[in-house]
Amino acid sequence: MRSLYIHIPFCEQRCYYCDFCSYVSNNEIKSKYVDKLIDEIYSKGTDENLKSVFIGGGTPSSLHYLLIERIMTAVNKCFRLTNDSEITIESNPNSLSEDKLKAYKNCGINRLSIGVQILNDDILKAIGRIHTSQQVYDIAPLVSKYFTNFNFDIMLGLPNQTSNDIVDTITKLNEFNPTHISMYSLILEENTNLYHKVKNNEIILPDSDEVVNHYNLGLSTLHDLGLERYEISNFSKAEYQSIHNLNYWECGEYYGVGLSAHSYINKERFYNTCNLQDYLSQTDFKTIYKEKLSIQEMIEERVMLGLRMTKGLNVVKLKNDLSYDIMLDKKDIIENLVNNHFLQFNDDYLSICQDKFYVSNGIIEKLI
Ligand SMILES: C[S@@+](CC[C@H](N)C(=O)[O-])C[C@H]1O[C@@H](n2cnc3c(N)ncnc32)[C@H](O)[C@@H]1O
Ligand code: SF4
Repeated sequence: MRSLYIHIPFCEQRCYYCDFCSYVSNNEIKSKYVDKLIDEIYSKGTDENLKSVFIGGGTPSSLHYLLIERIMTAVNKCFRLTNDSEITIESNPNSLSEDKLKAYKNCGINRLSIGVQILNDDILKAIGRIHTSQQVYDIAPLVSKYFTNFNFDIMLGLPNQTSNDIVDTITKLNEFNPTHISMYSLILEENTNLYHKVKNNEIILPDSDEVVNHYNLGLSTLHDLGLERYEISNFSKAEYQSIHNLNYWECGEYYGVGLSAHSYINKERFYNTCNLQDYLSQTDFKTIYKEKLSIQEMIEERVMLGLRMTKGLNVVKLKNDLSYDIMLDKKDIIENLVNNHFLQFNDDYLSICQDKFYVSNGIIEKLI
């Protein structure tokens, strides 16, 4: 089964560190965008069962909930959702409300992701977030009233972030009983406001050793609370790993609709435009850029994404699907990494040893 990603490219304010495709726009543009998005959903609809739908952004919760309902109606008309389909919407704490939560639930959304980042107002302000910790405390009980399955996003590597901020944020968020926490390390993207502030020494970021220490502290705090790592940055309670994300990491197929969205179908990747005006004036959603992935590219992607997961890379499936035997091709390197306790092999899966995830990039580089 395939997945569907729906991009909502609107935010109330651009955070200083973010380079995702998103605009601060008025209601008229948002409404026109949703009209176009629905046209695109109709043009791609196949009536097939979907394993997951992810309404991401940008900030989908910044749209009026009637627009989300219209999108879900189109999805239901063009694809089939089953009782097991995971349907997620991303949100910011300040743009959620009880009415929105009720509407999301009523239109079939069964998983919420809330971008908290950190429960420290000085840091939130320094990275350009518009929400406060209090808004998280206010909305989280309502989220857990309407949803049993929900995620909080948090971030490491933020200016002036201390060990205490991390333990405190995770512990307080856990009181709302989330099923999932994503813990991302800040990537300093070029041409963002934060990038320039750092280059001009207006903001100093923690060095990489400190971020690794904070990651390990976050990892053990999450583990003690029953949130187990299943991918480098993703932690969940048992049975609550994200179906949508697992599909990406296992190189499964997916449709993508909306500005800047990608699709991956029949070994071809399709790219939508990143330009809002171009998207709004499009009439034929088929005239988009596509590329056929070479076998080598598919192998590299499988290895890279597979080893980011705790369960690792299914080497038998890799051999069956792409006729590539990594155990033979990289025999000496793998033996060496296994003997030095960087890699392990269990039941068809080659995986990075739990305590070596902090050097995973180096390990993956040796294998591709
Ligand atoms: C693209 S946002 C969309 C959801 C929502 N607007 C929000 O901010 O939570 C999803 C997540 O990406 C992460 N993110 C965005 N930019 C990042 C960056 N430069 N480095 C690391 N994580 C980033 C944040 O943790 C954020 O919660
Ligand atoms: S992090 Fe989220 S809220 Fe901030 S600019 Fe990016 S998409 Fe928008």
